[in-house]
Amino acid sequence: MRAIRVTTFGSIENLKLESNVPVPVVGKREVLIKVNAAGVNPVDTYIRSGTFSLLPELPYTPGSDASGVVEEVGSEVTKFKKGDRVCTVRSVSGSYAEYATAEDKYVNHLSDKLSFAQGAAIGIPYYTAVKALQIRAKARPGESCLIHGASGAVGIAAIQFAKAIGLYVVGTAGTKEGMALVKNTGADLVFNHKEEGYIKAVQAAIVGADIILEMLANVNLQKDLDLVNTRGRIVVIGCRGSIEINPRSTMAKESSIMGVNLMTATDEDLQEAHRVIKAGIEEGWVEPKVSTTYPLGEAKTAHHDVINNQGTTGKLVLDTTK
Ligand SMILES: NC(=O)c1ccc[n+]([C@@H]2O[C@H](COP(=O)([O-])OP(=O)(O)OC[C@H]3O[C@@H](n4cnc5c(N)ncnc54)[C@H](OP(=O)(O)O)[C@@H]3O)[C@@H](O)[C@H]2O)c1
Repeated sequence: MRAIRVTTFGSIENLKLESNVPVPVVGKREVLIKVNAAGVNPVDTYIRSGTFSLLPELPYTPGSDASGVVEEVGSEVTKFKKGDRVCTVRSVSGSYAEYATAEDKYVNHLSDKLSFAQGAAIGIPYYTAVKALQIRAKARPGESCLIHGASGAVGIAAIQFAKAIGLYVVGTAGTKEGMALVKNTGADLVFNHKEEGYIKAVQAAIVGADIILEMLANVNLQKDLDLVNTRGRIVVIGCRGSIEINPRSTMAKESSIMGVNLMTATDEDLQEAHRVIKAGIEEGWVEPKVSTTYPLGEAKTAHHDVINNQGTTGKLVLDTTK
């Protein structure tokens, strides 16, 4: 089969398309998926570069998120059969390939209403949104939530989940197109995080936020501490550097800063998120927005773009059939 292989950690040049990779063998509790689309996540680039805390053994095929059709099931799998449309959040063999194996507990049926590209956009973004809002921040209906960076893959998932559980949602984006996407996805209010003074505008509009989901903490954490309500929760999802903050801000309002890390999520957390997302696919609120689809052989460009994009408008996906 065709697959992207990495034999040495390093730059995007280390993503090589190979055409004679063996199809992975399905384990007892695993599903072999004929992959139609694979999600490209920022963490795939941290792993490829060798800087992430958890690294696979070399050589490996990148990617955790995939969607496609079940080709074969392991002897102990009962929930899936050959021909089912599915998506997964974890892959044993790697999703940037024509075939991938996944443990059945991480696989969901994919509604006919969603395309394969949308199916590949569910994994990490939606599980992270559920983990951040429900498991870490313990969001309650009626609370207000600022999604600081709402135009990307996790942000879109978070808007949809937050609205589904009854939150008042304020989102930010860096361009007019991104702002329109955030609004159309269901945010009650939208602001531009590139505009000077936007934090004051958010404050004027909503007073403060009970929950803040932060996609770029190294830029925004002090602003979040200023904006969060008394006993509010700031959930750090994305951070690409360090920042100086004044911890006194947390005392005055008894606010909390908490991190989220999907890669080290417990099985219990993943199963809770799995149940929420399964229901969301059935109910229809899980509706990923895909901005760009690349052929499998252009994984390098996708890795470049997912880290350097400005003016994000949703998810980047690989079409593994091309
Ligand atoms: N902790 C975890 O378990 C976990 C899981 C998934 C993702 N992440 C991390 O979360 C981050 C987002 O992931 P993603 O897949 O959604 O990436 P993405 O699709 O590339 O989205 C990035 C988002 O950040 C926004 N952004 C850019 N500058 C910003 C600023 N100054 N303030 C606020 N937001 C800003 C972008 O908006 P514009 O482009 O419109 O400016 C966009 O909405 C990444 O750093 C990723 O590594 C962490």
